[in-house]
Amino acid sequence: MKSIKIKIPATIANLVCGFDILGMAINEPYDEMELRITQIPDIIIRHTDHFGLPEEASKNVAGVVLKKILEHLNLKNGFEVIIHKNIKPGSGLGSSAASAAGAAFAANVLLGNILSRDEVIHFAMFGEELASGVRHADNIAPCIYGGIALVKSSNPIDIIPLNTPDLFVAAVHPQVEVKTSDARQILKKNIMMKDAVTQWGNIAGLIAGIEKNDLSLIGRSLNDVIVEPVRSILIPEFDTIKRKSLELGALGGGISGSGPSIFMITEKKETADEIVRMMKSVYDKIEVESFGYVSDINPTGITIIEHNH
Ligand code: HSE
Repeated sequence: MKSIKIKIPATIANLVCGFDILGMAINEPYDEMELRITQIPDIIIRHTDHFGLPEEASKNVAGVVLKKILEHLNLKNGFEVIIHKNIKPGSGLGSSAASAAGAAFAANVLLGNILSRDEVIHFAMFGEELASGVRHADNIAPCIYGGIALVKSSNPIDIIPLNTPDLFVAAVHPQVEVKTSDARQILKKNIMMKDAVTQWGNIAGLIAGIEKNDLSLIGRSLNDVIVEPVRSILIPEFDTIKRKSLELGALGGGISGSGPSIFMITEKKETADEIVRMMKSVYDKIEVESFGYVSDINPTGITIIEHNH
């Protein structure tokens, strides 16, 4: 029976100033997914973790993606999916994107790479739509491409893979609930021209810094005057953690995706280790449980662990 097992990286969307248009894949944490084609026109999903995600195909991020692919190709087959999730749902580290992108990627390989990479992204976005109500590709694109990806447009899909600078990431996930849909709802519908000018200066600076491997320019550009001031209110101790991270030598950072995780980028791994210790101790002090991650950038995106033809 045709089957595949893949490894799927976590992703950090927005990269501070690039709301909905920038994302980066990291090596830790990651999910694994096994997919098998079956002769019965049914999608059977099983999780090996304890997050309690729905297993009914129409309510599952991977399930809706697979359904859409089968419908599009007019196939009478089905799929069996086993998801080993380590990227915590609701963390802001691209957990739903990992399931969505993983399902689309794995199904495409099993079907003989019948879909283009842009089509894989198109189908994966149905999973993001189920999870947050919006078809955004800033987690999905880096998850599939690896490294840092620019979503120049998600309709039509126009993805620009960028350079992968030699950087480390420190991230903390405090155990507070921030739903992506709520974190989008609270954003202002209109912005001031002066803020827009600051923001596009930062986005352009960030992309130039990434392409030139100019770490100082990357650091100077990691500023968000539009989304972070609104969303950071939902994350306890956000300002303290950001200030202390910069004091410890972070180049910059902010909210990971729609939160509640906070990420910082550093030049050295030791700095990232020290920042994660600080982040966790800030949350320990206010008795909020937290999980810390230190990672480098994942340059490859989803990889195949096993493939039985
Ligand atoms: N760009 C999206 C947002 C990412 O910030 O709402 C959500 O994971």
